[in-house]
Amino acid sequence: MNWQRLRTWFSQLPTHVIIIGLSLFWLIPTLGLLVTSFRPVQDANVSGWWTALSSAPGGEVYQQYCADCHGADGAAILAADLSDPDFVTNYRRSLQIRVTLDDEYNGVVHMAEETRPSDQELADILAFLRRSSGVETRPRFTLNNYVDAIVGYRGTSSYQASCEEGTQSPDLTCNFIADINNPRGMWQAFLNTLIVTLPATILPLIFGALAAYAFSWIEFRGRMVLFALLVGLQIVPLQMTLVPISRLYNQLGLSATFTGVWLFHTGFGLPYAIYLMRNFIGALPKDLFESAYLDGATHWTAFWRLALPLSMPALASLAIFQFLWVWNDLLVALVFLTGRKPVLTYQINNLVQSLGGGWHLLTASAFLSMLLPLIVFFAFQRYFVRGLLAGSVKG
Ligand code: HEC
Repeated sequence: MNWQRLRTWFSQLPTHVIIIGLSLFWLIPTLGLLVTSFRPVQDANVSGWWTALSSAPGGEVYQQYCADCHGADGAAILAADLSDPDFVTNYRRSLQIRVTLDDEYNGVVHMAEETRPSDQELADILAFLRRSSGVETRPRFTLNNYVDAIVGYRGTSSYQASCEEGTQSPDLTCNFIADINNPRGMWQAFLNTLIVTLPATILPLIFGALAAYAFSWIEFRGRMVLFALLVGLQIVPLQMTLVPISRLYNQLGLSATFTGVWLFHTGFGLPYAIYLMRNFIGALPKDLFESAYLDGATHWTAFWRLALPLSMPALASLAIFQFLWVWNDLLVALVFLTGRKPVLTYQINNLVQSLGGGWHLLTASAFLSMLLPLIVFFAFQRYFVRGLLAGSVKG
């Protein structure tokens, strides 16, 4: 008995190792994004996110390269006391330190070429010196990036700092409640994405389930042919239809409207929705429906009372996939909504392009846009696990 257990445990070991390895492989960059999103702009621009987690960011790198001569606290060389704030203030950029390392002192090279820290390490060292000498009093973590992303502020410092100095950009009032509605910020985009996503998820679900019921339990001519055609539609690439449909929308006055995007997503979601739901509803026990019809149930009641409740697991997984697809979609939103009704993906794209290295905004807005999908996933995931017919068919 125990041997049996042990053997299954060992036979599953490779699978477990692979799964854990894969999860780590994805989780670590995600953790990096999360940490970066809470770091002050100035730090995020010069040092890696992992340095923020150590007790003295950059401290190990300093120990490794400079402590031998300058001492653990930097005070060992009187003429170059690296713990002296006045001295450290002279070094604004890590580049200046690199130049210093090229100098000769008393005929000895400061540091031989091959033993020098890399640019990234120098940045870490400088950050460490500035912090330990007290030049830098900035907290290590901040919520500023999230505030900046929400109000769409793209300056070099932060929304809060620039408001205190009175140098905010012209379209911001420094009244947070008012600025939250700034069309360049994430909040408006969040609302727009929500307006796009909810109907674009619910409509294919409803129509898909209705059609699937018809394909499974209503006899009509050409049923299989029609179904086969619909299944075949799944392979139509979305890109192919962009031009004809935007021309059609222009004529109908549907361009840059939510209705247009809803219709588009519903159209492209339906083939797969029908296919999946048909497989599910068609596999429900036949007796169930026949006895319902014998009792005088119409198709309508059979659909609402039997088919729909019983296919909850399929509906839930379909809802999750459709929701995620629409939520993360950029192409359709870009073509059919344009910048006039910016969605989250559009706004994130803007934050990167207009600021080259705006990692702090990019990471914060990425997490803002992940928030709702995560909530939806955890809210619905029990449907995946829940037994298929549990509790619905009594003996
Ligand atoms: C081999 C010993 C040695 C190592 C290793 C070393 N330094 Fe120095 N450093 C010196 C000496 C010696 C001076 C010159 C002191 C003087 O001015 O007489 C100096 C001076 C400096 C100065 C001041 C230059 C100026 O403007 O006067 C800076 C800044 C500095 N070091 C930074 C660093 C950093 C950062 C590291 C680690 C990457 C480092 N040093 C590693 C020996 C060293």
